[in-house]
Amino acid sequence: MSTILKLVVFGCILTVATSSPCQLTTYSSRKITGHNGHSIRIDSGFLGSMQMMHAAARYCNLTVKVTSSFRKQGQPVPGSIVTPATHSNHLVGRAIDMNVVTPLGWCNSKCLQARKDKYAVCFIDGLKRGGLRWGGDFTKIDPVHLDDNYYNKFPTSWLELFKQHQTNC
Ligand SMILES: *[C@@H]1O[C@H](CO)[C@@H](O)[C@H](O)[C@H]1NC(C)=O
Ligand SMILES: [Zn+2]
Repeated sequence: MSTILKLVVFGCILTVATSSPCQLTTYSSRKITGHNGHSIRIDSGFLGSMQMMHAAARYCNLTVKVTSSFRKQGQPVPGSIVTPATHSNHLVGRAIDMNVVTPLGWCNSKCLQARKDKYAVCFIDGLKRGGLRWGGDFTKIDPVHLDDNYYNKFPTSWLELFKQHQTNC
């Protein structure tokens, strides 16, 4: 039987299952929630990035709806127009796909790429200044995607996380 700990840190609820082999953390906050019942599962090393997104969402007056986070290899991506990358940071829990809800309405992939919703632009540009990567800048553009560039920065650690999370989660 596994013990579930719920920790409330900076207004976010972190669920840690202590005796489960899977080391992913479940994240949600008043500004960032899973869309359509999606449970936001991330590597604990990505928590700082989620907290930065929370702060940026608050500052830019929007909420974030996460449609995808950690993914098992080979798992189909609902509604995706982009072929999953071999070394996707989703595979290690260090990427999310999202839409945002701003005072101007729902901002999806097309809206994010158009950069006409000033609240969404505030959010994306703030995160880029904070060091995150936005999929709208990729060669294969993917405007709903945010990650911390873990694979390019730390390929060896990426591989260790890949083995750990893909095996245990
Ligand atoms: C967010 O809303 C507040 C209060 O309405 C406003 O003062 C502020 O300028 C807004 N921020 C942005 C980035 O639009
Ligand atoms: Zn993505």
